[in-house]
Amino acid sequence: MSIRPQPTQHEKILGEGDFIVSKTDLKGIITYGNRVFITMSGYSEEELLGAPHNILRHPDMPRVVFKLLWDTIQAKREICAYVKNLAKDGSFYWVWANITPSFDSSGNLIGYYSVRRKPRPEAIQAITGLYRTLLEAERKAGDGQPGMKASLALLNQTLEQKGMGYEEFVFGL
Ligand SMILES: Cc1cc2nc3c(=O)[nH]c(=O)nc-3n(C[C@H](O)[C@H](O)[C@H](O)COP(=O)(O)O)c2cc1C
Repeated sequence: MSIRPQPTQHEKILGEGDFIVSKTDLKGIITYGNRVFITMSGYSEEELLGAPHNILRHPDMPRVVFKLLWDTIQAKREICAYVKNLAKDGSFYWVWANITPSFDSSGNLIGYYSVRRKPRPEAIQAITGLYRTLLEAERKAGDGQPGMKASLALLNQTLEQKGMGYEEFVFGL
């Protein structure tokens, strides 16, 4: 895999009417990206097709969010999440993402499909705080399972305190 870009503090903002669309196979390998996806990520179509979707993974993103994402879509359900992405030039861009499983005519899972739009600034502000806390918990508890366990516990505790499920929480931001 190519070397990870060095993250900068430069933010790219998705246009109001813009949608980023991408498709992956069952392993999260990119099989399609629309023009906005290519432009925002900064990679060429050739670089993106066949690459794992974690090519855009930003180090500020807690791993627990992706665990929740994969657990949900592999269980054939859709999920919505706020994601901070890392572009090729090191800049970042926030998206409000919907990720859905794709099925063939027999109902077999054949891949995943994602559409993202610009999040509300208030939502970004709220989620940034939560993600920072989750990331700290992951780092403190260490790589791998201990970190994941700690941040999952913290996420569940946060939701419990709010008396909400994950979905109700993210849609209310
Ligand atoms: C359809 C689809 C779209 C995804 N979009 C993104 C994305 O925009 N940014 C991102 O960091 N991860 C995205 N992911 C999740 C990645 O596959 C990956 O789990 C994540 O970047 C974390 O990397 P890791 O699993 O290697 O830890 C997407 C996954 C799927 C199936």
